[in-house]
Amino acid sequence: MIAFDAGDHFAELKRLHSQVRRCRKCFLWKTRKKAVPGEGLPDATVMLIGEAPGKKEDAAGRPFVGPSGKFLDQMLEEVGLVRENIFITSTIKCIPVPAGKPKKVSIEACNPYLQGQLKLVNPRIVCLLGEVAARNVLGVDKVADVRGEIIRRSEHIFLVTYHPAAARRFPALHAHMRKDFRLLARRANIRQ
Ligand code: URA
Repeated sequence: MIAFDAGDHFAELKRLHSQVRRCRKCFLWKTRKKAVPGEGLPDATVMLIGEAPGKKEDAAGRPFVGPSGKFLDQMLEEVGLVRENIFITSTIKCIPVPAGKPKKVSIEACNPYLQGQLKLVNPRIVCLLGEVAARNVLGVDKVADVRGEIIRRSEHIFLVTYHPAAARRFPALHAHMRKDFRLLARRANIRQ
């Protein structure tokens, strides 16, 4: 597990991210171009957690810079959230091989990094984008069962919504995701 220095959590986050960039805890280090630790304000009010980097993210070493990222940016803009003011990461930090849902071994290997980010950023609200993030963090199986609800668990407040890749593909999900993001933006301004 990662050790925390409460007095210097910005430096701890930086250190955690360099550990991710060098990580060899599962087999994905062999095929990645760049690991994608995440980015944003180290003390952001809102944290978004996606699934896994895609090709564009793997090339850039940055989260959500491909087609899903464009969709996500639009959603954020629509509800008045500024990307630079939030913290964005994914459940696993390297592009999955074979392409598709990340394997359990990678999710488990990456989980201490994610938990470290949650603890260090300590956001007011965490938005879980899609089933992989919702299952890993909350043990939820179906996004549709819990989306749009405020869920208090351990030290954090969570909101589950669809993954931008799914919402992009299925226009029927747009209105739900927009509604969830409006709630996210409102909650971001409320003290716990
Ligand atoms: N999907 C994710 O979940 N994360 C990314 O960084 C890109 C696409």
